[in-house]
Amino acid sequence: MGRSLLIYVSVHHGNTEKVAKAIAVALEADSLRLPEVDVHMIRRYDLIGFGSGIYFGKHHRTLLDFVDGLPVLREKKAFVFSTSGLRRMRFVHDFSKPLLARLERRGFDIVGEFSCRGFDTFGATMLVGGIQRGRPDERDLDRAASFARTLKDHNDR
Ligand SMILES: Cc1cc2nc3c(=O)[nH]c(=O)nc-3n(C[C@H](O)[C@H](O)[C@H](O)COP(=O)(O)O)c2cc1C
Repeated sequence: MGRSLLIYVSVHHGNTEKVAKAIAVALEADSLRLPEVDVHMIRRYDLIGFGSGIYFGKHHRTLLDFVDGLPVLREKKAFVFSTSGLRRMRFVHDFSKPLLARLERRGFDIVGEFSCRGFDTFGATMLVGGIQRGRPDERDLDRAASFARTLKDHNDR
C-alpha cells in the first residue's frame, strides 16, 4: 500500500484539525500542520491530503501559498478537505476550486474531496454567538472516516 500524508492548517477553532485526525486514523496517514512541513518530505508519499478552514471563499492562504511553492510532482495523488461556516454553493461559494486548480497545476491526480461545517464566530456571526456550534460533530467525523476508507481502498489498488 502507498503511504499517505495530511497537510493542514486549522487556526480559527481547530475545526479542521478534528477532521484531519479522523481522516488520519482511518487512512493510517501521517499528518503535519503547516508551517511544519518540509517540501522534500512530500516525495516519500503517494497520496497527500490538503485541508484547512475556508477563509473568504477559499482554503487558508498559507495552504494555497504552500501548494504554489511546490515543485511539479508526477504520479502523486491528492485529495482536499475543509470545514466552513457555510455550505458549498456552485459559482457563488465554490470554495475548493482555488486549491484544486493549484494542485492540478502541480501535477497531482485529484482523487477526492471532503467538506463539512465548522463552528464559525467570524464577523457578524458573533452577534448570534457564532454559527454551526458543535460542528464538526460525531456524525461529521464518521463521514470523514468513511471518506478516508474509500481513499484507502483506492490507494491499495
Ligand atoms: C476570517 C474568517 C473568514 C471566514 N470566511 C468564511 C467563508 O468565506 N466561508 C465560510 O463558509 N466560512 C468562513 N469562515 C468560517 C470558517 O471557515 C470555519 O469556522 C472553519 O471551520 C474554521 O476552521 P479552523 O477552525 O480549522 O480554522 C471564516 C472564518 C474566519 C475567521
